Amino acid sequence: MRTQVGIVGAGPSGLILASLLNRAGIDTVVLERRDPEYLLSRIRAGLLEQGTVDMLDEIGVGARMHRERLIHEGVELAFDGRRLHVDLKKLSGKVVTIYGQSEIQKDLMDAHKAAGSAIVYEAEDVSIHGITGDKPSLRYTRHGKPHELTCDFIAGCDGFHGVSRQTIPQDVLRIYERVYPFGWLGILSDTPPVNPELIYCNHERGFALCTMRSNTRSRYYLQVAVDEDPEDWSDERFWTELKRRLPSDVADRLVTGPSIEKSVAPLRSFVAEPMRYGRLFLAGDAAHIVPPTGAKGLNLAVSDIRYLSRALIAHYKEKRADLLDRYSEDCLARIWKAQRFSWWMTNLTHRFPEALPFERRAQQAELAYIESSVAAQTALAENYVGLPFKD
Ligand code: APR
Ligand code: PHB
Repeated sequence: MRTQVGIVGAGPSGLILASLLNRAGIDTVVLERRDPEYLLSRIRAGLLEQGTVDMLDEIGVGARMHRERLIHEGVELAFDGRRLHVDLKKLSGKVVTIYGQSEIQKDLMDAHKAAGSAIVYEAEDVSIHGITGDKPSLRYTRHGKPHELTCDFIAGCDGFHGVSRQTIPQDVLRIYERVYPFGWLGILSDTPPVNPELIYCNHERGFALCTMRSNTRSRYYLQVAVDEDPEDWSDERFWTELKRRLPSDVADRLVTGPSIEKSVAPLRSFVAEPMRYGRLFLAGDAAHIVPPTGAKGLNLAVSDIRYLSRALIAHYKEKRADLLDRYSEDCLARIWKAQRFSWWMTNLTHRFPEALPFERRAQQAELAYIESSVAAQTALAENYVGLPFKD
């Protein structure tokens, strides 16, 4: 079998890339290890920058999002018994969209199904060959049968645990990583959100976040030890702990109910450079991970795909190599700014178990500074809504 661009992974990165290329008349095959049911069952964040909304519109999968989304013009920080409303719209001119990533995954899969796209689910043992030559290939097995797919280019959209990044020789790859000494315990429940906007709470018992999927479905997170077992958290224990960390007027309004999902996720900052090696291009979680505090994971994946699709289209339509050559540099410029912001938001809002009293006082001073300074709030707002693209 042969295709122009072989894509490993059918998460948001792989499926959006396939849509953009197919619309430009470029042939793709997506190889995905899991089955469709598994992809649809994954619970991820749900906050979209305008650039992500525009991308979903560009590939024609934005209709349900526009019907069902919530638009947030601001966000709140709670700390030391106070609450600060940051007016995103006034300070940055932009808003953010609340729409769950599981819904995006469904919209993308439905659109590909309708278009009859080449997506091979349950592709096992995917391996990547010949990336430094001009005919790279992907080998895999399906239901025990071996297959080979010859390509012009390979896009590694296979997430943090995928095979693509590992195919790049270790002496070429530079890894930048920070692992945080805590995790997030998240629950989803069919209860109305406690507040119309998200609240990021810095509390002595640990960070808490109130977020939502819709006017009837809430998502809450608690900072916990990274090895915490979600089984040890009954719904009642979760709600009691959440109430203790929220400002008291918010806690009084909290509507509780049975959880639909409960899980612990570790927090990590990670970047692999370069994002291109020969004819292999990494995108999304395959190349970088952010802690969820700024909700940048999906938004960054979409910005990589924006650069990669434009570079591949320029190659095929205009015989230009410059955008492919600049791919890694263009992506990393934006990625590092989002990494810095996610790390900063994490430091600002969490309680670090080993923090010196000095560091805690500096954190309090920073929160007080943001409270008193329009310039500081503007910096937060413009990063939160998403920094501009290069072109
Ligand atoms: N072979 C084939 N497919 C693979 C392999 C492999 N060896 N390894 C992983 N995959 C698949 C996974 O099953 C998954 O469906 O690659 C896909 C990667 O998808 P995501 O992890 O969602 O990564 P990405 O598409 O880059 O999305 C980035 O979305 O999923 C969130 O947290 C993520 O917010 C981030 C954003
Ligand atoms: C979410 O809705 O799950 C969410 C929102 C904002 C974040 C992280 C997660 O910063």
